[in-house]
Amino acid sequence: MEGFRVIGGERLRGEARVQGAKNAVLPILAAAILPEGETVIRDCPDIRDAHAMAEILGKLGCECQWNAGEMRIDAANLHHWEMPDELSKQIRSSIFLLGPILGKLRRATVTYPGGCEIGIRPIDLHLKGLRALGVSIVEDGGVIYCDGRNMRAGDVYFDYPSVGATENVMMAAALLPGTTIVHNAAREPEIADLQDFINAMGGSIRGAGTQLIEIEGVKSLRGVCYTPIPDRIAAGTLLCAAAMTGGEIRLTNARPWDVIPVCDKLKEMGCRITEEKDAVALAAPERLRAFSQLQTNPHPGFPTDMQAQMLAAACVAEGTSVIVENVFENRLSHVTDLCRMGADIRVNGRMAVVTGVPRLSGMTVSARDLRGGAALVLAALAAKGESTVEHAELIDRGYERLERTLQTFGAKIERVRK
Ligand code: UD1
Repeated sequence: MEGFRVIGGERLRGEARVQGAKNAVLPILAAAILPEGETVIRDCPDIRDAHAMAEILGKLGCECQWNAGEMRIDAANLHHWEMPDELSKQIRSSIFLLGPILGKLRRATVTYPGGCEIGIRPIDLHLKGLRALGVSIVEDGGVIYCDGRNMRAGDVYFDYPSVGATENVMMAAALLPGTTIVHNAAREPEIADLQDFINAMGGSIRGAGTQLIEIEGVKSLRGVCYTPIPDRIAAGTLLCAAAMTGGEIRLTNARPWDVIPVCDKLKEMGCRITEEKDAVALAAPERLRAFSQLQTNPHPGFPTDMQAQMLAAACVAEGTSVIVENVFENRLSHVTDLCRMGADIRVNGRMAVVTGVPRLSGMTVSARDLRGGAALVLAALAAKGESTVEHAELIDRGYERLERTLQTFGAKIERVRK
């Protein structure tokens, strides 16, 4: 098992480049099975989930090569429609392959996906969307058999704007003759990025980023070189780290628009934020102030993937902050370890009331999910003394060598093996 050993108390200073977006690259890797010819994903983040996705693509018959930040995918030999059981259980994004495999091979079999333990995470909306396109679906013993021989374009309505379900329908419909319309689509920037990627391959999709997405099926797609958008969650995490340590940092390859909800809260906490075209800088006050309220919601609401990090920041802010987690029902598991570090947090259902303390204390704590794990690293950076955050592998799912980025800011953090 690997962990991060952190000596807290250093003010973070300096500049770093933000990695490519995990949540953009995973559906893009799935969509890379759609074209004829080779696809190259530039600035592909070196994270465990991207490698796991490449491994699944390999098992399906694709050739995937990872070299110096570039992922090459050749789907010419894609022939399996059965998703490998073990890998699918490990990574929830395997569900994104359902749409493109059906679009390409008209059949798909998948086991219920795994991923972070942050809630029940059903896939009913994914299946509803595919059924609306004429896919017949039978579930048996945790395995989902999809028959897409009668697939046709059509109208899909989502009761809730699910990110993954929206992306799955876009990928399933990209090669389907006719017009598919997604109503109440998710509006996250990563969905617009998937649209841009499919259109760069010759697809015809418009409306991503709004609630109505229109997909005009095309006959074929061609391989391209594509660079996914920067990771707004990685950027937000680093900004929080600087805010909590009284630091001053500048992030390049960061899109200010995508981090508005996070920057808005950090400004409320007393940070000075400077936005440039592709960069964001933050200067923190001596001590953060509490924010009045933070509620997670689908985009453009506050991102659930930044809730844990903001909660960690609230732990050392002056005053009381209230956080409501509306998206996932079980996403406050970092609270227990933060309390062990001296934080004052009361949880009632999906709500956490955080009263800031002047200083947390270093401790051995354990990451339980990706973003909660990152929150513990931030708390350790701001704490007095030494901490170890166990289960670095969960944090590695979404952050490219987080310890190295933090080291460039002067943080005392190292990876340790137990
Ligand atoms: C994606 C992101 C994840 C982020 C989440 C919400 C990727 C790889 N992951 O996950 O980091 O936290 O969006 O912004 O992009 N739901 C259903 N039925 C479904 C699907 C979802 O009830 O079929 C519910 C979920 O349980 C959850 C809510 O909808 O409560 C949001 O889930 P969704 O938007 O689908 O998130 P993901 O695509 O899994």
